[in-house]
Amino acid sequence: MNVSRIAVCGIGQMGAAAAACFGRAGFPVLLWARDAAKLAGVPDQLAKLGTFLDEHVGPAAATPGPVETTADLGRVNAAADLLLECVAEDLDQKADLFRRLAPAADRGAILASCTSGLSVSEMGHRSGTGRRLVGAHFWNPPHLMPVVEVVRGAETEDGLVEAVADVLRRAGKLPVVCKDVPGFIGNRLQHALWREAIALVQSGVCSAADVDLVARLTFGLRLPAVGPCENVDLVGLDLVAAIQGYLLADLCDHKGVMPAVDELRAAGRTGMRAGRGFYDWAERDPATLVAARDKQIVRQLAFLREVGRLG
Ligand SMILES: NC(=O)c1ccc[n+]([C@@H]2O[C@H](COP(=O)([O-])OP(=O)(O)OC[C@H]3O[C@@H](n4cnc5c(N)ncnc54)[C@H](O)[C@@H]3O)[C@@H](O)[C@H]2O)c1
Repeated sequence: MNVSRIAVCGIGQMGAAAAACFGRAGFPVLLWARDAAKLAGVPDQLAKLGTFLDEHVGPAAATPGPVETTADLGRVNAAADLLLECVAEDLDQKADLFRRLAPAADRGAILASCTSGLSVSEMGHRSGTGRRLVGAHFWNPPHLMPVVEVVRGAETEDGLVEAVADVLRRAGKLPVVCKDVPGFIGNRLQHALWREAIALVQSGVCSAADVDLVARLTFGLRLPAVGPCENVDLVGLDLVAAIQGYLLADLCDHKGVMPAVDELRAAGRTGMRAGRGFYDWAERDPATLVAARDKQIVRQLAFLREVGRLG
């Protein structure tokens, strides 16, 4: 199918910004939310994203496509060639939505899920749309992060992964095709790090602030330029073997949610939005932190482009 019209379902952290990416690449976009009242804030949100991108990244590459909003799933089913789901990270809810998007799949549209790592095969199987479904895992913030992991499910038809990768390239993204394993590539790596980070705090080796300082200002500084496997080669496999020989057996291998995470949740400390998590957010300014993160990503991307390391 030639993809010219895109629909994005869900207007949380990921949906609206993903819609903005497609819109700025010239695609007409239909942005759906189940709650019509929530759509009122979308134009403002898109305008802010557009201003940020104009100021920090540069003007849109194409004449922007219109981004319309709707609470009518029938319109989405009738209109779009590619439908990207960005609703809650819950297999039942995603499968239910895809079941309701089956009319689009039946007329040959492509369905995609932004899941962070749920089984695309299972989602397709449960919804009955597996032949027309792929994973398209955008990273947050979706309007800045270049890589999108594209995942082929067990039933996905030949050619679909490439078709989605092609649309993503047209939207300025860098698709990486992954197998359908939990967490794909990126979240397996990220959660391996987070498990150890939380284990260090949980066992009293150091504070959350020290974990973050060491991660940000040691290996974290190198990561955009030198990937972990490249770094293994730079360090040399003899040294890597010498360290792994005594270290790996000591690392956390806890299966399931980390006890410290459950304890904080039980105390209502669910993170920044609740005011407390590992940190007390009453004493910190999340907006400044997020602005610093976004500015750093923009600068990092410009640098990586300059030195030929983007891709
Ligand atoms: N936030 C991240 O950092 C991030 C990064 C990458 C991928 N993702 C994935 O993207 C997806 C969306 O995440 P998010 O952070 O945007 O979530 P979010 O909670 O910010 O937004 C989800 C939106 O979908 C709506 N919604 C929830 N369940 C629904 C349903 N059953 N039907 C219709 N609408 C529903 C909610 O009202 C909300 O507007 C998830 O699968 C998540 O794992 C998130």
